[in-house]
Amino acid sequence: MPVSHRLASYGTSIFTEMTRLANERGAINLSQGFPDFDGPEFVRRAAVEAIGAGHNQYARMSGVPPLSRALAARWERLTGQAIDPDTQVSVTNGCTEAIAATCLGLLNEGDEVITFEPYYDSYKPCIEMCGAQAVVLTLAAPDFALDCEALARAISPRTRAILINTPHNPTGKVFGREELEFIAALCRERDLIAVTDEVYEHLVFEGEHVRLATLPGMAERTITLSSVGKTFSLTGWKIGWAIASADLSRCVRSGRQFLSYSVATPLQHGAAAAVGAGPEYLDRFLSNYRQRRDLLCDALEEIGFVVFRPAGTYFVLADHTPFGFQDDRAFCAHLVDEIGVAAIPPTPFYDHPEHGRPLVRFAFCKRLETLSAAIERLRRLRPRA
Ligand SMILES: Cc1ncc(COP(=O)(O)O)c(C=O)c1O
Repeated sequence: MPVSHRLASYGTSIFTEMTRLANERGAINLSQGFPDFDGPEFVRRAAVEAIGAGHNQYARMSGVPPLSRALAARWERLTGQAIDPDTQVSVTNGCTEAIAATCLGLLNEGDEVITFEPYYDSYKPCIEMCGAQAVVLTLAAPDFALDCEALARAISPRTRAILINTPHNPTGKVFGREELEFIAALCRERDLIAVTDEVYEHLVFEGEHVRLATLPGMAERTITLSSVGKTFSLTGWKIGWAIASADLSRCVRSGRQFLSYSVATPLQHGAAAAVGAGPEYLDRFLSNYRQRRDLLCDALEEIGFVVFRPAGTYFVLADHTPFGFQDDRAFCAHLVDEIGVAAIPPTPFYDHPEHGRPLVRFAFCKRLETLSAAIERLRRLRPRA
């Protein structure tokens, strides 16, 4: 059976492809962004206890009350904004479902959503599945700065929303306050909704993480998405959420009630324990990742890459052109076949692939031993004759 027209052009995700190749070739997998260590014991224990305590039936559609309350309390701690856990917090199956539900609940056919490349791979298909169109602007190396003029020009009478991701996968860019103020001003002037994907919100090494929803006039027009996967090293749990005004939350919920309807009940109880974690956990988490970032980036530089050291996230983009390969796919094929390390060729995250061809993405959400072993292998890289 042929895949539907809407999805046929997307094929298999690059993450599936690279992880399969890594397994087949016995390569060290620095491609897909999942940790090779476990999430915190107190969180896993809370989920196990929830199963033992009989929290095993369908959850409330918007999320179990302890998690909704914990997320609302956390939001107030982080932003100073008090929100209603029952009407402004929507728990989802990971941030990925929050993105899909937001698009489904917000977009009409013919609408346009402005977003930025390189983009997280689900943004475009989700927008297009709603009959809407993604208008894609480039964050270009070396600094991946927002082109404010291009953004202002891209807004049309059909623009419904601006979708941003900060800290940004895969560039490691953390949007600056001025950039976000510019986006916020456009949203207010042109009556647009902002959707912000903040799954790496606690992985900021340089600068500050500014939440768009905290800028003047933005609380009522921003949908903030996040999840436990990255911050608590539990990517397999797929517990995410959307925080927004009651009106915008109604849009998100109307989308998600026909996707999965509800989210795994015991894992939501585990997630409630996680999001209550204080600065002690988060500070240690960040310093562990800083060590990993520096280890990998220093080594990549020594080996001969041009490294775009990330200000946030657990990914690094590097320019592989000193090694003389034709493009990102050829380079990553060589890496997995001959060097024994899997990485991601970033062109699938671009509408304008010429920006991605010189680049390669490595994930450093791995044990130090894994990173060191990968670095040893990468030292065998030589420029092509
Ligand atoms: C920018 C971005 N958004 C969303 C997700 C998915 O989050 P989740 O696993 O919670 O669905 C990822 C995962 O890699 C991501 O990088």
